[in-house]
Amino acid sequence: MTETPVTDHPLTRPARLPAFALALAIGAFAGASTAQAQSAAAEGQKLAFDRSKGNCLTCHAIKGGNLPGSIGPELIDIKSKYPNREDLVAIITDETLRNPLTVMPPFGRNRILTPREIDAVVDFLQTL
Ligand code: HEC
Repeated sequence: MTETPVTDHPLTRPARLPAFALALAIGAFAGASTAQAQSAAAEGQKLAFDRSKGNCLTCHAIKGGNLPGSIGPELIDIKSKYPNREDLVAIITDETLRNPLTVMPPFGRNRILTPREIDAVVDFLQTL
């Protein structure tokens, strides 16, 4: 007579399921936060390139953007130049605080971009 091995007994099998489900849930959660950061950066790129929003390409060459102007410096290696994201938020919100003579529009002070939109643009800049 063949006996079912204890490890494969129908009564012990369901007990392994919760641990497996938990591992799956943890994996999905970790994946979701990375996906969230990526989608914020993608949203930021859209806002930066949109001619009626950030319109950053009018003055800045930016990787992935077409027909840039050259009034401002190329935006490159931004994460190493400005490791503190608050500095980038400040530049985009109101660059006149750093340089009263700048031609860069104060996107936050003039409400061209909302604080949430500025946050997304900063997420994008940190990928450069
Ligand atoms: C009308 C032109 C203009 C537009 C539009 C513009 N900028 Fe600028 N930006 C400048 C200039 C000029 C500078 C150089 C610094 C200064 O003038 O104070 C600058 C500087 C910067 C810097 C600092 C770069 C560095 O290497 O130190 C960042 C970051 C930046 N801009 C981001 C943006 C983003 C993001 C947008 C779009 C939301 C944007 N700029 C739109 C003109 C512009």
